[in-house]
Amino acid sequence: MGDPKKPEAGRRVSGANAFALTNDESRITSDQPADADGGEAAIRVRGLVNRFGSQTVHDGLDLDVRRGEIIGIVGGSGTGKSVLMRSILGLQRPTDGSIEVLGADARSDDPRQRQHIQRHTGVLFQDGALFSSLTVGENVEVPLREHHPELPETWRRELALLKVKLAGLPADAASKLPAQLSGGMRKRAGLARALALDPPLLFLDEPTAGLDPIGAAAFDHLLRTLQQALGLTVFLITHDLDTLYAICDRVAVLADRKVVINAPLEEVERFDHPWVQEYFHGPRARAARGQRNPPRQEAD
Ligand SMILES: Nc1ncnc2c1ncn2[C@@H]1O[C@H](COP(=O)(O)OP(=O)(O)O)[C@@H](O)[C@H]1O
Ligand SMILES: [Mg+2]
Repeated sequence: MGDPKKPEAGRRVSGANAFALTNDESRITSDQPADADGGEAAIRVRGLVNRFGSQTVHDGLDLDVRRGEIIGIVGGSGTGKSVLMRSILGLQRPTDGSIEVLGADARSDDPRQRQHIQRHTGVLFQDGALFSSLTVGENVEVPLREHHPELPETWRRELALLKVKLAGLPADAASKLPAQLSGGMRKRAGLARALALDPPLLFLDEPTAGLDPIGAAAFDHLLRTLQQALGLTVFLITHDLDTLYAICDRVAVLADRKVVINAPLEEVERFDHPWVQEYFHGPRARAARGQRNPPRQEAD
């Protein structure tokens, strides 16, 4: 009750967008999680185990993602960030553990539970994963076609165009092929597609990797703006310290096959763990912190 973000988040998703999809199912299912878990956690992972042959990637991993926050997921390469995301999305079967996403069980065999997750999440995969033979607009139409076949073609096109613009692309980008766009624009196209179904929960895997610092900062800014305007919960895998300092409410660190800490940055920075200390107190971290708090007083 004390957090004004929580009750508003759900309403904004349907209210902010004149084209918001309001079929009965999406309305019922968006309300359901708040009743089920008191509006506390958007994602709750307990005791997650992921093994590939003799390799154990996760071993008893716990994670809570709160509604309406941007959580940054960090960890060394190969620590299982992408596997964690795929497990949460129900795209990969974990060895053990429980995963709840917006009140649905990601490990359930019930197709309705999986559909609930699919309909209420948007994903930007690490490689962008746009269909290269489809235009950007057609790419954005794919999830609409799949989940809302009842929509008339012209509506679908309008909706796709709206998402393209929402992602900060010019309208003419909708008729271009992904290969005709710059790297930064392709990321935005991927974001437009992730937003196609007005999901309350957005997953992004290394969205600023490969972008120049200005492009990355612009993407961060767009993400923060959209998150606030649409009341989104954002699960953001990143190795980009600037992104963590610029837009993340909390940061979860993957190490030793677990989430070793999940807290606001100030707390994470002080956490006594070798990887955390190396990552947050190296020269790059100092530069990122400096950007967040530019020494303005000295200039006066
Ligand atoms: N489908 C799979 N089969 C076998 N090994 C996998 C599979 N998916 C991921 N892995 C392994 O799990 C580990 C974690 O991978 P990943 O989640 O992609 O790491 P990252 O933290 O860099 O995203 C890696 O060693 C990877 O090789
Ligand atoms: Mg990865």
